[in-house]
Amino acid sequence: MYEQISHSLLNEILDQLKPEIYRRDLRHFYTRLGANFYAIHYLFHLLYGSRDDFKDQMVRLVETMATQYLLRDDELQEIDVQREQNHNWFLSQEWAGMALYPEGFAGTINGLQERLSYLQELGINMVHVMPILKCPKGASDGGYAVSDFRDTDHRIGTLDDIRALAASMRQRNMLLTLDVVLNHTSDQHQWAQKARSGEERYQDYYYTFENREIPDMFEESMPEIFPQTAPGNFTWDEAMGRWVMTVFNNYQWDLNYNNPAVFIEMLDVILFWANQGADILRLDAVAFLWKKIGTTCQNEREAHLILQLMKDCCQVTVPGVLFIAEAIVAPVEVIKYFGEDAIIAKECEIAYNATYMALLWDAVATKNSRLLNLGILNLPTKLDRATWLNYIRCHDDIGLGFDDTDIRLAGYEPAAHRHFIIDYLTGQHQGSSAQGQPFGFNGKTGDARISGSLASLVGLEQALEEGDPEKTEQAIRLILLLHSMILSFGGIPLLYYGDEIGTLNNYDYLNVPDKANDNRWMHRPRIDWQQVEKRKQRGSVEQRLFDGLQKLIAVRKTIVAFADFNNRELLTIANPNLFVFLRTNPLQHTDSVLVVGNFNTAPQSLNLEELGNRGHFGLGGVKDLCSGRSPSLFKDQLVIPPYGFYWLIDHRQ
Ligand code: GLC
Repeated sequence: MYEQISHSLLNEILDQLKPEIYRRDLRHFYTRLGANFYAIHYLFHLLYGSRDDFKDQMVRLVETMATQYLLRDDELQEIDVQREQNHNWFLSQEWAGMALYPEGFAGTINGLQERLSYLQELGINMVHVMPILKCPKGASDGGYAVSDFRDTDHRIGTLDDIRALAASMRQRNMLLTLDVVLNHTSDQHQWAQKARSGEERYQDYYYTFENREIPDMFEESMPEIFPQTAPGNFTWDEAMGRWVMTVFNNYQWDLNYNNPAVFIEMLDVILFWANQGADILRLDAVAFLWKKIGTTCQNEREAHLILQLMKDCCQVTVPGVLFIAEAIVAPVEVIKYFGEDAIIAKECEIAYNATYMALLWDAVATKNSRLLNLGILNLPTKLDRATWLNYIRCHDDIGLGFDDTDIRLAGYEPAAHRHFIIDYLTGQHQGSSAQGQPFGFNGKTGDARISGSLASLVGLEQALEEGDPEKTEQAIRLILLLHSMILSFGGIPLLYYGDEIGTLNNYDYLNVPDKANDNRWMHRPRIDWQQVEKRKQRGSVEQRLFDGLQKLIAVRKTIVAFADFNNRELLTIANPNLFVFLRTNPLQHTDSVLVVGNFNTAPQSLNLEELGNRGHFGLGGVKDLCSGRSPSLFKDQLVIPPYGFYWLIDHRQ
């Protein structure tokens, strides 16, 4: 957009750029800057316009973008241009992701590079490499307490190793996702250390206070994230003689985005990692970026403005790079992290679908789809050119972040229902064979989340212990059912490492003093590659899971209707045990695929007449794309086995 004030400012800024920037050929940079500058100026002004040094800060912002642009490899710049031309590339059904800790998966970054062919064998072509940056030993929060944003943990690998990994992945047409922890640093980061030693400039990088007056005001409305291990949101720092805001652990200091210098530093970090070859950046804990007294300090409007501004700046410098919003918040809030508009107020292209994740676990515990159906029905429609990351579990605990109103509509009382789910998944409920553990129990609210590996949560651990073939069979079916749901929903499926071979809870963390009080480590496994070999033994649990998932992923990639163009229709049907939705081909509006999942342990039937004339299923018979077979129909009744699922097309297609 052309607007005089911002464009004359832009010309002024360009005149002030350092000569080494000014002299270089920046054609693409300038066209993109021109196109995005109105929004950049507008947002930067909204956030920092009242400051005397506003113009200086703007110069610094543009300089940061230009410098990183000049540092960007030709190969990456070419990819930027290709992705600009094909801007829907990431909505394709051809992507299938996995999140993994490189250390647990393969020891090191180089080890991971050697194992890329294993991931390809499964069909994975997007890898979220969990945090690899320098963190203090013993106070790392699994890599999320960073003490140097530009250096790796040398036990896992070096920057060169990362660049080599990125290059190898590019050759294999695989996407690399890396984390950027935007909300906080470790208390050992040099900014924190300088703040500690009394440098005011760096104290202003954080929220620090000389007494409890303001912290107490904040505390009135701020929830606690780790109530058991890190109660409260402020920590007294003896050396600094001040209170500092620490929303997560007491060694994670929250960054103060009221200060434009913080914004520019963190933008520089984002661009740095884009330039190391990351295709996607996972922005950690984005809901927390702005703090305001009297609020929960989550999902504030300014947090969104910051993300919009970061996106606009990246569109200028590294336009091929996408953002994932890690915002594990209520459904109506999650949706806002895509932005308000796909072009003029864009934030993140991808967001964790925590709602779907939690609802799937509800269906597992209740063995029906009542809440799952309601929760998805009430999930607000997302923007075009935005997509979900659909997952069953990740490295974090499972939070029951669905809506109380939906719980009531499903016929349950919210508090009692949440208790039931926790009891079920932690094996306290009669008839449950789940072996999870409660995480983050809050004595004041009674809330808890759940830790545990997928296989242990669905009863595989118990089944194997008991040597019970029937229970083992059920657990395998349930693991495949859950994956069939994330693979067909619309968005990028994100598997979790180890789940493809049924990795059970790992209790080794209990022997490591600085991990022992964080049971999320029970589901952050070290892969046993001898166990992985069992995927080649016919009939083994590993083989059944691995081959089942491999097949599903391969089939997913061939189904155009599974690309994500908001082309999903949830179908309300009479049988509450089933979850049924229709995916239509976004290009032709034909070739619809009917997805049916049965969350019950008994066979269920679906009356195809209930579908009306959608897709004309049933008239000429149906075919299941997963098995390649035609499931039997009794009149118009489709029978779905216990924990069964179908991806159905009309037989004539
Ligand atoms: C994110 C991470 C989680 C971490 C938290 C604080 O939610 O996924 O593991 O504890 O941020 O950085």
